Amino acid sequence: MGKLIVVSSGKGGVGKTTTCVNLASTLAHRGLNVVLVDGNLTTPNVGLHLGLTKFPITFNDVLKGNASLEDAIYVHPLGFKILPGSLSMRSFSEVNSRHLKRSLIELRDMFDIVLVDSAAGLGNEAMSIIKQADELLIVTNPELPAITDAFKIINHAKEIGIPVKGVVLNKVQGKGHDLGNQAIESLLETPITIEIAHHHDMRQALYKKTPFVHMRPNHHVTKKYHSLAHKVHTGEYVRRIEELEAENSFLRSILKTLGFNSK
Ligand SMILES: Nc1ncnc2c1ncn2[C@@H]1O[C@H](COP(=O)(O)OP(=O)(O)OP(=O)(O)O)[C@@H](O)[C@H]1O
Ligand SMILES: [Mg+2]
Repeated sequence: MGKLIVVSSGKGGVGKTTTCVNLASTLAHRGLNVVLVDGNLTTPNVGLHLGLTKFPITFNDVLKGNASLEDAIYVHPLGFKILPGSLSMRSFSEVNSRHLKRSLIELRDMFDIVLVDSAAGLGNEAMSIIKQADELLIVTNPELPAITDAFKIINHAKEIGIPVKGVVLNKVQGKGHDLGNQAIESLLETPITIEIAHHHDMRQALYKKTPFVHMRPNHHVTKKYHSLAHKVHTGEYVRRIEELEAENSFLRSILKTLGFNSK
């Protein structure tokens, strides 16, 4: 049986769909059978990120009971499958929540990893998906409003017993106005799994309707997505000792250059 991983955030626009398309590509690259589900049911984005908008049958048809799951799953050229949403859905009240729950359970049996791109926040639409998750992956940015909103989701997930396995800190600029990692980790009471830099070519990837990892296969940001895929695949979300040591030795070398004698 596969894992159902819901990618969620408190605030909108932090990079959930971007994370999902790049993670789906890198997980498929590892040979896993992955389906990327557009769980943003009223404002679906996955198709837009991948340049695919004219799906004859969508997840919404499945949720209305008008089609089977198999009919609504498509193969992306990069190897992962997509269960797309439909731009025509007006309101979440059109969704049959029993069909939603059953579909997510069935998908777990069909795939190694079911990656769900969720709506932001704690509204009915987001919560109906979060409640079904085996694991939650939170995406946030290093700024206070995004962090406080992320904390709300993490807190709520803990209350209802859904494990928050990872935090993707996206759009990191490394400038003085970014919140520092230690502050973020203590505000979220959760360790950061991976940092993804703010990179102007992300916008180009969106324009080209292809995942960044495909457009720039050797880029350092792509390596981060491969590392995230490794963590998601193995379940070892927390930074490994070697990574922390590598970061520490980098810090030590900077301190040494600056004339500080740290061990
Ligand atoms: N690391 C990054 N560097 C620069 N731009 C980024 C990065 N990640 C995402 N973006 C840009 O931020 C914008 C929002 O990204 P995205 O659509 O993935 O966010 P979202 O959380 O899914 O939004 P929504 O809540 O509306 O679904 C897009 O223009 C995307 O290209
Ligand atoms: Mg989105």
